[in-house]
Amino acid sequence: MGENTDYIFEPLSETDVDEVERIEKESFSEAWSRDAFTDAIGNEFHRIFCLKRKGEGENELLGYIGWAVVYGEAEITNVAIDKKFRGHGYGNVLMEKAIAVIEKEDNKNVFLEVRAGNKPAIGLYDKFGFKEIGVRKNFYRFPTEDALVMMKTIGE
Ligand SMILES: CC(C)(COP(=O)(O)OP(=O)(O)OC[C@H]1O[C@@H](n2cnc3c(N)ncnc32)[C@H](O)[C@@H]1OP(=O)(O)O)[C@@H](O)C(=O)NCCC(=O)NCCS
Repeated sequence: MGENTDYIFEPLSETDVDEVERIEKESFSEAWSRDAFTDAIGNEFHRIFCLKRKGEGENELLGYIGWAVVYGEAEITNVAIDKKFRGHGYGNVLMEKAIAVIEKEDNKNVFLEVRAGNKPAIGLYDKFGFKEIGVRKNFYRFPTEDALVMMKTIGE
């Protein structure tokens, strides 16, 4: 990751949906449908933001993050970086920018669920100060696996 890289962090638009759907399918065994992403566009209670790198022509979509907002709490629903770009620090950039928006929108806490064996994601969340607050037994399917519930208090 170049420190000087110009990033764009902007709400999902119709023109991003093909790429986001492709990344979602390559990342999750129970992927969100195209309609779920399309429905989230313009939804008052849902945010999906894309991280892009400025290109010569079109900007390159690196990944995306989504969260639902309920009574001042944000619940992260999607986090993914395109497989070919993982391990270069873009997950850090994605999370940093999302937390900044979540904070700016005056939310107090951020929650998420993660597969208990998903080391890269748990490593990322630890780094950003998320703490494990519970376990949902056998929450995930394909394969069956526990979910860790994690929480971060904004500003801590
Ligand atoms: C989780 C994910 C978004 C991380 O994105 P990334 O761009 O590869 O992450 P980065 O390179 O920015 O690394 C950020 C931190 O994540 C952790 N991490 C990333 N890859 C890791 C790995 N292979 N093993 C352990 N920790 C890892 C580290 O803490 C890392 O911090 P560091 O750079 O100081 O070491 C990415 O792996 C992904 O899209 N996974 C598939 C989808 C997914 O599982 N999403 C989470 C659903 S809850």
